[in-house]
Amino acid sequence: MPGRRFKRKPAKAPKPFAAEAEIVSIGLQGDGTAIVGDRTVHVPFAAPGDVAQLSVTGTKAQLTGLSKESAVRKAPVCRHFGHARDGGPNNEKLGDECGGCALQHLDTDYYNAWKQGLIRQALSREGLSHVEVLPLLSSSPKMRRRAGYSVRWIGGKAQIGFLAKGSHRLVPMAECHVLDPELFALRDDVARLCEPLFRLNPKAWFTCFVTLADSGADVDLGGDVAEEDLDLAAREALTELARAMKLSRLTLNRVPLYVPGPVTVTFAGTPVPLPPKGFLQATKDGEEALQRVVLDGVGEASHVADLFSGSGTFTFAMAKRANVHAVESVPEAIAAINVGRNQAGLKPITTQVRDLFRQPLMPDELKSFEAVVFDPPRAGAEAQVEQLAGSAVPVIVGVSCSPKTFARDAAILTAGGYRLDAVQPVDQFIWSPHIEVAAVFRR
Ligand SMILES: C[S@@+](CC[C@H](N)C(=O)[O-])C[C@H]1O[C@@H](n2cnc3c(N)ncnc32)[C@H](O)[C@@H]1O
Repeated sequence: MPGRRFKRKPAKAPKPFAAEAEIVSIGLQGDGTAIVGDRTVHVPFAAPGDVAQLSVTGTKAQLTGLSKESAVRKAPVCRHFGHARDGGPNNEKLGDECGGCALQHLDTDYYNAWKQGLIRQALSREGLSHVEVLPLLSSSPKMRRRAGYSVRWIGGKAQIGFLAKGSHRLVPMAECHVLDPELFALRDDVARLCEPLFRLNPKAWFTCFVTLADSGADVDLGGDVAEEDLDLAAREALTELARAMKLSRLTLNRVPLYVPGPVTVTFAGTPVPLPPKGFLQATKDGEEALQRVVLDGVGEASHVADLFSGSGTFTFAMAKRANVHAVESVPEAIAAINVGRNQAGLKPITTQVRDLFRQPLMPDELKSFEAVVFDPPRAGAEAQVEQLAGSAVPVIVGVSCSPKTFARDAAILTAGGYRLDAVQPVDQFIWSPHIEVAAVFRR
């Protein structure tokens, strides 16, 4: 009937119920898994072997107590890890758990083996179970050089923190064992930077992305106030604060507000401009570990392609001994390489802005390279590896932040005749379920 509206009944939220169960494994997101009745439930902060009291809602459960502690449990290093609990030197009560870390409560051997297992599982799903998974190369704590802080206007004040697991609740942080202390110390400054913006929109929500560049902190305030919404007072306040904080750059949704000089990062000794929010490996030691695998892999090759090059993490490391052709879809990243490429001591670097998903390098174009490096986003490099699989390039080095898409791409290359013996895990995102991989394929 025209005009008649049907009201949809709101879906009934499942009622929580109490249960006790043994945690049988750790799932892909780092949560414990347990079987309760006929369902598998996911239990954050649980360890395999725990006999746990649970509050179960649907397929999720909260850990409410432990009848037996797992042998692979250990005390987390951070007071914000896990559920609200006492902590800190004064035993102060803090808010809810920080959603940043999932796995601080597992002993190191178990944790390392679990991360290797993620890669093994992904490889064996693609028929590559013979490939050796090497021991992890792990970043040290307090090495992360970029962070996305959440900032909201609460109680007449800009409050900064990270979000609680699976929620939008802000957790103010008194300590963090992941971030570089210099980055962590900036959080009050970052909150203050948002105050002029909250005056324009107190309901706004910001994710402030902070990167430690060569020249100091580079801050992007990302959120619900656009650059054109700023009045003169807000502009002046922001510039003044940025100057007082000695920021290397301040942008609002990537639009520059304060840029006192060049903002650079240094790759293998070459400084290059960092685009606002431009890609950078999460830790310096992770970056160096990946560069070592890449350099060992390409060996003496004199002409190399660096596909999905970003601003040149691998390009500049390889250009010390080989001609490099860097290809990437983000024009600002290629522009950064173009600025850095004329340094003394580097072999010629050529560049191309190109979408490698839609327009992969074809076998004819690949002919001139003795080695190819590819380091795609999470989606992987399917279209490009299909072309590589049919090429004669003798050495290919794959780097990836997704074991699943890496394994799919690896299977395409091995079906095309490449040999893959081993995969090197690089753990830049310690205590999280993420793991990076790097591997060398040879014909
Ligand atoms: C994981 S990052 C690696 C960057 C660089 N290798 C590094 O280590 O700094 C992936 C890069 O792929 C680029 N990218 C994403 N989609 C792309 C596409 N369709 N074609 C080409 N590059 C793409 C991103 O802009 C990003 O720079």
